[in-house]
Amino acid sequence: MLDLFIVMVTERTFVAIKPDGVQRGLVGEILGRFERKGFKLVALKQLTPSRALAEEHYGVHRERPFFAGLVDFITSGPVVAMVWEGEGVIASARKLIGGTKPLDAEPGTIRGDLAINIGRNVIHGSDGLETAQFEINLWFEVDELNIWTESDHHWRVEA
Ligand code: RTP
Ligand code: MG
Repeated sequence: MLDLFIVMVTERTFVAIKPDGVQRGLVGEILGRFERKGFKLVALKQLTPSRALAEEHYGVHRERPFFAGLVDFITSGPVVAMVWEGEGVIASARKLIGGTKPLDAEPGTIRGDLAINIGRNVIHGSDGLETAQFEINLWFEVDELNIWTESDHHWRVEA
C-alpha cells in the first residue's frame, strides 16, 4: 500500500471586512475568528477604498449587473484590509467566511452567523492562489507585510 503524504504549503490570503462589517462593529469579532483558528496576521489597515481600487479589486465582475452597486458599497466607508498567513489559509479562510449568500451560508461561518443579505455580506476573502497574490499586491505595499513568528508557533504547527 502506498503511503500518502499531504504536503501543506504556507500561503497568504487577502481578507477585507467590508463597510457593513465595520459600521456594525464586527471588526473584533471577525479578527478573533481568524486569530482563534491559529492563522498569523501579517498586515492590517483601515482605509476607505478609492473607486479605482474597488473597480480593480472586483474587476472580474465588471460586466455583472451588480458591479456598480458593489463598487458604490465598497467605497462607502472604511474597510479593514488584512493579510493572513498559514498552511492552507486561502481555502480555510473561504470556509471560515462561508457562502456568498448569507442565508445559504452554514451556521458557524462568519456570513452564516453575522449576515442576511448578499449585498451586505460583511467580508471578502481571496478565492485562489493567483487571486490572493493579485489582491495582496493591490491593497498592500511590500513593506507593510510583516515577517514574524508567533511565540507559540510550535503549539499550532507540528514541526
Ligand atoms: P467576495 O469576492 O466579496 O469575497 O465574495 P464571493 O467571492 O463570495 O462572491 P463573488 O461571486 O466574488 O461576488 C462578489 C461580491 O459581489 C456581491 N454580489 N452581489 N446581487 C448579486 O447577485 C450579487 N452577487 C454577488 C456580493 O457582495 C459578493 O460578495
Ligand atoms: Mg469573490
